[in-house]
Amino acid sequence: MYKINTNYQKLPGSYLFSNIAKKVAAFQEANPDKEIIRLGIGDVTRPLTNSVIDALHKAVDEMGDADTFRGYAPDLGYDFLRDAICKWDYVRRGCDIAADEIFVSDGAKSDSGNIQELFATDNKIAVCDPVYPVYVDSNVMGGRCGNYDSTLEKWSDIIYMPTTAENGFVPEFPKETPDIIYLCFPNNPTGTTITKAQLQEWVDYANKNGCLIIYDAAYEAYISEEDVAHSIYECEGAKTCAIEIRSFSKNAGFTGVRLGFTVVPKELKCDGVSLHDMWARRHGTKFNGAPYIIQRAGEAVYSEAGQKEVQELVGYYMNNAKTIREGLKDAGLEVYGGVNAPYIWMKTPDKMTSWEFFDYLLENACVVGTPGSGFGPSGEHYFRLTAFGTLENSKKALERIKNL
Ligand SMILES: Cc1ncc(COP(=O)(O)O)c(C=O)c1O
Repeated sequence: MYKINTNYQKLPGSYLFSNIAKKVAAFQEANPDKEIIRLGIGDVTRPLTNSVIDALHKAVDEMGDADTFRGYAPDLGYDFLRDAICKWDYVRRGCDIAADEIFVSDGAKSDSGNIQELFATDNKIAVCDPVYPVYVDSNVMGGRCGNYDSTLEKWSDIIYMPTTAENGFVPEFPKETPDIIYLCFPNNPTGTTITKAQLQEWVDYANKNGCLIIYDAAYEAYISEEDVAHSIYECEGAKTCAIEIRSFSKNAGFTGVRLGFTVVPKELKCDGVSLHDMWARRHGTKFNGAPYIIQRAGEAVYSEAGQKEVQELVGYYMNNAKTIREGLKDAGLEVYGGVNAPYIWMKTPDKMTSWEFFDYLLENACVVGTPGSGFGPSGEHYFRLTAFGTLENSKKALERIKNL
């Protein structure tokens, strides 16, 4: 008789966003006249830009013509896109990354979930707490996390690195040395980041202790401060200890289009075994490439006009972030993030739990955010608002919060 992967049964029942959706639906049903403003889920709302739309149309036409039709894409991505990524995201920033170290994919979520397949089950992973849940859940599925303690809301075999106001949202080196360290900067959910000098310390730590860093830079485009690295490869020595994951979702609005990439440097070796070769093998076996049409759209993001449009898009959301951040501060709340990321992370007032504040805000302001505790135990008493809505709604939500 067949057997299932019982690690799936260890995952705690409900998912954060389905819980939120249920609560919001129940509230709307009970209050059909009330207008709810959703600043909860990290999904973009602005349409695709002109350069991207033009590239999509052109590529669709090519697919309808026998002379220009394309079948399976190369597993690792078309050269036109890998070259553009290499030039704009790495060479331009002084990073010594080659185009063939870039693996194009259908997004950062898949890559950050799939990458754990390359590693033995007995690796000890470390994550920031709070954390983007995919890193933890995918490792649970891979049998790497031990058992879940529902009282502590922690997995027995994961090393948690609290990032809270107390340590300025900068993770400290854990007491127990991990094997694999997940870092995400600018950070989801806290909207905070660390400086390049602080990231360099993590790179040095990883190289010294034989750790691998999986660096999620999905929000790189939102960096506004000079001393923050756009890529971990800006740090010396990162090529021997780090994999970087990127996305087109948040810079170019591709959440529904799907495109991302992962960089695995050739120098990255574990006991002489090349992780680049392993990831290439994995891609070749399990992935048939991101669609041609979408890769052309990705290429357009790197055109001069495309880059200008990205700046405008990011500028739009960051203006929302400023509106929310300043508005919350004016309302006397303790606020973090929102400077290098489209997330605003606030302390709940009056020691409310994250879920108490969620209910309070929904019922009294008809505004939906995300309870910080949903991202890990150190997220308790925090709350996340996103800047991905419209400016009008961001302003309206803040007016409502100020009037509470
Ligand atoms: C930290 C982080 N990584 C990855 C993703 C997913 O990116 P993608 O849309 O490319 O799958 C998200 C989405 O919210 C995210 O917050």
